[in-house]
Amino acid sequence: MTRRTKPDPCVVVIFGASGDLASKKLLPALHNLQVEGLIPDETALLGTARTEFTHEQFASDTRRDLEENSRIKPTDESWKTFASDIFYVPGDVEDPALYADLKAKLEEIDESCGTGGNRVWYLSTYPGIFSTIADGLGKHGLLDTRGWHRLVVEKPFGHDLDSARELNADLRRTFSEDQIFRIDHYLGKETVQNLLVFRFANAIFEPIWNRRYVDSVQITFAEDFGVGTRGKFYEQTGALRDVGQNHLMQLFSLVGMEPPVAWDADAIRDEKVQVLKAVRRWSRADCGEVAVRGQYAGYRDADGVDPHSATETYIAMKLLIDNWRWEGVPFYLRTGKCLTETLTEIAIQFQRVPHLLFAKTAVEELEPNVLVIRIKPDEGISLTFGTKVPGPEVEVRTVDMDFDYESDFGSGSAEAYERLLLDCMVGEATLFTRSDEIEQAWEIVDPIREHWAQGGRPASYEPGSWGPRSADELLTRDGRSWRRSR
Ligand code: BG6
Repeated sequence: MTRRTKPDPCVVVIFGASGDLASKKLLPALHNLQVEGLIPDETALLGTARTEFTHEQFASDTRRDLEENSRIKPTDESWKTFASDIFYVPGDVEDPALYADLKAKLEEIDESCGTGGNRVWYLSTYPGIFSTIADGLGKHGLLDTRGWHRLVVEKPFGHDLDSARELNADLRRTFSEDQIFRIDHYLGKETVQNLLVFRFANAIFEPIWNRRYVDSVQITFAEDFGVGTRGKFYEQTGALRDVGQNHLMQLFSLVGMEPPVAWDADAIRDEKVQVLKAVRRWSRADCGEVAVRGQYAGYRDADGVDPHSATETYIAMKLLIDNWRWEGVPFYLRTGKCLTETLTEIAIQFQRVPHLLFAKTAVEELEPNVLVIRIKPDEGISLTFGTKVPGPEVEVRTVDMDFDYESDFGSGSAEAYERLLLDCMVGEATLFTRSDEIEQAWEIVDPIREHWAQGGRPASYEPGSWGPRSADELLTRDGRSWRRSR
């Protein structure tokens, strides 16, 4: 992924501009791209939401957000450039007047900033209104400019397979597939992009990246904090939709995919879709055996949460890929809130040696090799292997060979949203999810969701633990255990 020329000047229109995502991620990302000279100074930002801000109030809140949340803090100089092109239009997306106001403002901005009718339409709102906004933009003539138009859609994309299909169809009434950028911010992380480079720029891993050498794969996305102020959102989402169907599936498909025929958006996404298609579809009856849900004790006391809530804050599931490369290799995926620590990692567990020569160490005592790709924190890659303990006896112990991003490349790499916004502005879609990819991911998790919807409750687990006991049992049944447990 080589760096390209600067994108054309454009207006980034953020729906939901008074929300958390805008203040914590989107506004800082735009500021940082401008400071680093990666986008033209003329790039303008137009925020819209129901809140009745003036331009000045929106600008001053934006400055505060940058001070609080930005990787690069604003200086008087960077702020002056950034603030000169910030605008705000209040309104309700159901009201035609909003579209007329936006249209008039955007025409003014094109005149004053030279943004040439180019637009990034960023939907950072409650998902239930994505279709309304897309329709409104088309119906009220906001796409009739001489520039390009790209629509960025936040997750969760749909709440099940049917609604995702419906949303895809709704958006395509107004935008073509190559104008739709479905965002999963995990794909913007350096360490996640490095997964592809690691696999396909090194000759030594590909020959062993298969069922002959790999015993199993574990993908862990753990957080040591609860839902905080996001209780209302989380109640309707739960861990399966919030992380399982998207972030976990993305990591899974990058590990499982075949080498793409070219380094371009379609070739890479074709292979991701292929591996998702090869995932065994569990029947609802299987789900009791292959999927686990939990809820941390205390979740029901959080703001916005139903005191009788059955929303899961933890999930674990086993996936199998029915193809030549992976037949019989289980992939165990888990995510949860309020766990022991915050960490996202992929562990490729290799098979044990077939026969051990060293009398002092039993085969079972010798840990098989594990390749761990740490997505966060302490981004890096490590490989464990057995080595001789110094001394007269031949005794074997497991040690680590470690690569650490920060010590090799320094700290301060760009945030995922910076990379993704920039890619969208240049029309580079590799790191965005295609409609068929989203639908395949839903097809995989939907039986689990339906199985849970039939009744029952998530198992309770203690905050600070590694989740419910049933998650351990999921692996024990297969004679395995989670890499990190209680
Ligand atoms: C978001 C989820 O997509 O990702 C959150 O909605 C989660 O629940 C977050 O906390 C984690 O993102 P990151 O980049 O902090 O690992």
